[in-house]
Amino acid sequence: MADNRPIGVFDSGIGGLTVLREIWKRTPNESTIYFGDNGRTPYGNKSHETIIKYSLQNMRFLLSKDVKMIVIACGTASAHAYKALAECSSVPVVEVAFPGARCAVNATKNGRIGVIATKGSVESDVYGEAIQTEVNKLVASGDIKAHSDSFKVFQQPCPLFVTLAEEGWWDNEITLLTAKKYLEPLKRDGVDTLILGCTHYPLLSKVIEQVMGKDVTLIDTGKSASEVIADKLINTSTSADGTMVTKEFYTSDDEKLFENLASPFLGGGIPSGAQFTSTDRFDITKDFELLKQKGIVR
Ligand code: DGL
Repeated sequence: MADNRPIGVFDSGIGGLTVLREIWKRTPNESTIYFGDNGRTPYGNKSHETIIKYSLQNMRFLLSKDVKMIVIACGTASAHAYKALAECSSVPVVEVAFPGARCAVNATKNGRIGVIATKGSVESDVYGEAIQTEVNKLVASGDIKAHSDSFKVFQQPCPLFVTLAEEGWWDNEITLLTAKKYLEPLKRDGVDTLILGCTHYPLLSKVIEQVMGKDVTLIDTGKSASEVIADKLINTSTSADGTMVTKEFYTSDDEKLFENLASPFLGGGIPSGAQFTSTDRFDITKDFELLKQKGIVR
């Protein structure tokens, strides 16, 4: 039997739309509810505890809409809050870091992988950990390209990229100058694969590609995550049949601002308009108690 409940997707703002677009492409029968926490963005410079708190509240909001899956369409929230959400959620949770790392390990030819992400994600080293996990899998499977010292990871925080993306400055001279400054070290390091470890960054991919050159493979973590989502829907027998596909949008900041940025990107606009909601009304005391018991938070 088909499960036509929507998939719930959240990000700190508009970055998660890059994931949403990939979900639409990969699983067109699915309905989605997107929440952009534009009112509290950016997450990248917030503390571990705050990111967990915001992410739990976003999750509670989406669960109140009867979603069948939660997608953390934010690299920073994936890095800091995945474990917490997976523990507290009553439905499966998908994040973006591990799928992106898997794709990068498969794509690299010289084993030199760059990661650009928010300060919070780089400091958490989630991508370093995820890449190592994938390399270990290759080694265990006897893949010839993998031996423990054949991969090297180079990480670079690019905090201004989030502001530029939220501002709609996806392709101008200021963005190009900023990209040159951030990406020069990674070019010198000779990376042949670059993980766009923050879901806002694919919005700037034209400029990033211009600076890195066509030979460097850019990994869009949303694309990788959409594969995981498609598999999970099949494995849990929760695929929709496409008879009534709905697309809802919520933002915790001005709806018009959100729509103006999101519509052109999503091509075809926002079907029923974006609605305002703030998720800080959701009480997550019980979730925190459980996480303390499990030793996931202090
Ligand atoms: N889109 C986000 C990420 O993937 C968040 C950026 C931010 O809010 O700082 O990390």
